[in-house]
Amino acid sequence: MRAFFKWTGIVLVLLVVAFVSFVFAKAGQTYEAPYPEIVTTSDSAVVARGKHLVYGPAHCADCHAPLESHARLNAGEEVDFTGGNPFELPIGTVYPANITPDAETGIGRFTDAELARSLRYGVRHDGRPIIDLMPFYDVSEADMTAILSYLRSTAPVRSEVPENEWNFLGKAIHAFGLIKPMGDGDVPAAPPVDSTAAYGEYLARSVANCRGCHTNRDLMTGAYVGPEFAGGFGEQVPVEGGGMKFVVSANLTPDPETGRMVGWSEADFIARFRAGRIVKESFMPWESFSRMDTLELKALYRFFQTLDPVKADPPIPKELVDTWPPEAE
Ligand code: HEC
Ligand code: HEC
Repeated sequence: MRAFFKWTGIVLVLLVVAFVSFVFAKAGQTYEAPYPEIVTTSDSAVVARGKHLVYGPAHCADCHAPLESHARLNAGEEVDFTGGNPFELPIGTVYPANITPDAETGIGRFTDAELARSLRYGVRHDGRPIIDLMPFYDVSEADMTAILSYLRSTAPVRSEVPENEWNFLGKAIHAFGLIKPMGDGDVPAAPPVDSTAAYGEYLARSVANCRGCHTNRDLMTGAYVGPEFAGGFGEQVPVEGGGMKFVVSANLTPDPETGRMVGWSEADFIARFRAGRIVKESFMPWESFSRMDTLELKALYRFFQTLDPVKADPPIPKELVDTWPPEAE
């Protein structure tokens, strides 16, 4: 019997060693993805479109502007996208890149094709996979060109951003390929820029990431685990002055019981976005979205009206859904 335990013990130790070695050996694996044929331009109309997307619906500013410039950003000013705000996740800390054109620390180091590949496929310049925080896989060719052209037109600023730090769980998730390249490169043709539901759908799915946050997801792997746009994706976040609060995305489908926007007119919806942040701890980039123009908001509203009602499950805590519109209660 003793011998049995001894051998089981040795086998277990060997298995653990093999597992740990596997994780360390594979955590840094790199991937291949095609290089899109995107060519940036200094055409002023293209650059202006890119600027609107970067500060508005595509909300690049929200993550890539350093925290100390957020007050200026929220006051409607232009800021430098020097990156570096740590994103603390259960699997490690990631740092948004310096996306000013600096030639040593920014995107001046990368070709248009490399930058477009990062956004189209979630594969970094060095082949490492990017966690699904920037789901711009299906942004149209024209909008991808506009976004990158605008970034190229900004002032280069030197800003060294730390390398991402993955904990053991993060390394294991990388080793098992759970964080991996995403887009299939099959980019649907974008509908014309107009207040139609079709354009709203393009914004909601491909540009503004409403889908990515308003669908329930596994917090470790990012996998979609709930019905689309029915909300329920959330986490405990620290509250200023102590304590924690569960912040969870709303159900955007027209379910009469749990749908957040039931009874909202188009004007209510637009007014809600103009009002900006109400739940202070919310991770929704309200500041960027409040810069969306009326046409974009109309298009989004119309798109959400076309969805089938889906009951949010689990239901979203009541205290988080009673903020808007104030007079409707
Ligand atoms: C939710 C936060 C978030 C948003 C929104 C966001 N980014 Fe990022 N971005 C990151 C993080 C985090 C990284 C670092 C990823 C890594 O190193 O794995 C990054 C990295 C990058 C990189 C470097 C990729 C490389 O090859 O090393 C580029 C370029 C970039 N972002 C551009 C953009 C653009 C353009 C937008 C808007 C269209 C945008 N980002 C929106 C968080 C964000
Ligand atoms: C990064 C995550 C994230 C993204 C992206 C996001 N949301 Fe949200 N959203 C949330 C969270 C969390 C809440 C609940 C807290 C709050 O009200 O801010 C929320 C709440 C809402 C509400 C209810 C507001 C209220 O006052 O009750 C609406 C409407 C909404 N989102 C619409 C959208 C639309 C439309 C988009 C895309 C343009 C979008 N969201 C993108 C996370 C997100």
